Amino acid sequence: MNQKGDEVLETALRRGFIWPSFEIYGGAAGFYDYGPLGSALKNNIIAEWRRVFVVEEGCLEIDTPTVVPFEVLKASGHVDHFLDAMVECTRCKGAFKAVDLLKEQAGVDMEGKSVKEMSKAIRERGVRCPDCGGELGEVFEFNAMFKTAVGPGSKRQAFLRPETAQGIFVDFRRLYRHGRGKLPLGVVQIGRGYRNEISPRQGMIRLREFTMAEAEVFFDPKNPVHPGFERVASERLRLWLAKDQSAGSEQITEVTAADAVRQKLVCNQLMAYYLALTVQLLRRLGIPESAVRFREQLPGQRAHYSVETWDAEVHTQRYGWIEIAGFAYRTDYDLSRHMQHSGEDLTAFIEERKEKVVCHVVEPSFGIDRIFYCVLEHSLATEGKRKILKLKPYIAPIQAGVFPLVTKDGLPERARQIERELRTAGLRVEYDESGSIGRRYARADEVGVPFCVTVDHQTLEDNTVTIRDRDTAKQVRVSIENLAEVLKRLIEGTLSIESLGGQES
Ligand code: ATP
Ligand code: GLY
Repeated sequence: MNQKGDEVLETALRRGFIWPSFEIYGGAAGFYDYGPLGSALKNNIIAEWRRVFVVEEGCLEIDTPTVVPFEVLKASGHVDHFLDAMVECTRCKGAFKAVDLLKEQAGVDMEGKSVKEMSKAIRERGVRCPDCGGELGEVFEFNAMFKTAVGPGSKRQAFLRPETAQGIFVDFRRLYRHGRGKLPLGVVQIGRGYRNEISPRQGMIRLREFTMAEAEVFFDPKNPVHPGFERVASERLRLWLAKDQSAGSEQITEVTAADAVRQKLVCNQLMAYYLALTVQLLRRLGIPESAVRFREQLPGQRAHYSVETWDAEVHTQRYGWIEIAGFAYRTDYDLSRHMQHSGEDLTAFIEERKEKVVCHVVEPSFGIDRIFYCVLEHSLATEGKRKILKLKPYIAPIQAGVFPLVTKDGLPERARQIERELRTAGLRVEYDESGSIGRRYARADEVGVPFCVTVDHQTLEDNTVTIRDRDTAKQVRVSIENLAEVLKRLIEGTLSIESLGGQES
């Protein structure tokens, strides 16, 4: 832990971004509520993701159930392979992830090793219960899916989905037809995923219920290209290659997306395309490329369905590097398995070759809650005593504050009118008249309001107001007639406070 990380969480809790769930009953580890500002910020982050994947990319978006029948997850391999190595304390019965304890107490990375090897390492290295110091039992495998049953009588076993992806795979035939047989075919789903994480101790980074935004990109295995690749070809990617990790080196290989393909550092052009798109998306959310790297997973770390996986990692002061998205080359694994288990034909037809193929899949899978934390941490700045949440204006929960300078002389009434007009124009605004104007600015800064509109006595004479810019504290006078339009342009970044002649107040 550290000061910056603590400040972020303290601000987030105090200002209504996030709260521990079920707090009045003592809370429940691995669950968080989004408060009013948090819900809005999360929705705005999702809107940016959707803008990229659905609006710009043209992916099809679907929405499928979170309760998934046993057969589907048996076919997908999750019933047999979605496992975590777990160990219990023989004294206090505390449950832990074996990999975490081995890393924390013995400094060894045993991800992907067998439970036998982990049990042996725990004994040999004297790893003990972190809570009570007791002796640990044998390591065993634990399926991280939440079990449930469909219908009364608990006859039909089901699970809460551990990923949204399976809802897409099982719908492939309809989606392929809907997309008129065009490949590559991108399909996305945004929604809750559930994992019964063994001991979630990292706040909102490791949740038991979280929001995923996933894309399954189906393509002809003989033609793994993206028609728009040129748009991202020169985007720079910071890759942490498996070979460097194996050699114990932190060396980053920085290449353009085009070179990553040319030098065969990534499996194909589609993979490089989505890595580059991620750099652009994170930049738009306020996370600079210098704080982003792509870690190639080592063979033992990959999920059962993947032959190559990259994790997008963002550097945070509180948690170090954290994975915010995974990019898996799932090959034809899922569609083939669903064909075998359902007996249905899920092939595509390649017209030029007159050939039936099972499509391959590259999957970008984003965790929205982790991105949310990273956005908060990367946005929070301290300038002297001022705390400023420098959120990009287009994702700010409140886009403008409307303040009467004083609560008399008709200023509140005029400010209320302006608030109403801005709301009608589609802006997310908030009226505030409590406390001194300085305190109101400070409060607005702390929750990331990019612009504050102040109504003063001059407003009553000439129908102008001041707009104050959060990041520079510069102010400019504009006429109310143009206010909504000016604010919209400031928010989308096509206008700056300086270009309007803004000055220090
Ligand atoms: P980790 O290694 O941290 O457990 P993972 O490799 O299991 O993550 P994936 O299976 O690749 O994660 O899931 C895709 C994305 O979903 C992750 O990149 C992450 O952003 C998010 N995610 C996964 N598990 C959680 C969780 N328990 N809480 C919050 N987000 C999660
Ligand atoms: N769908 C990717 C994952 O759950 O890891």
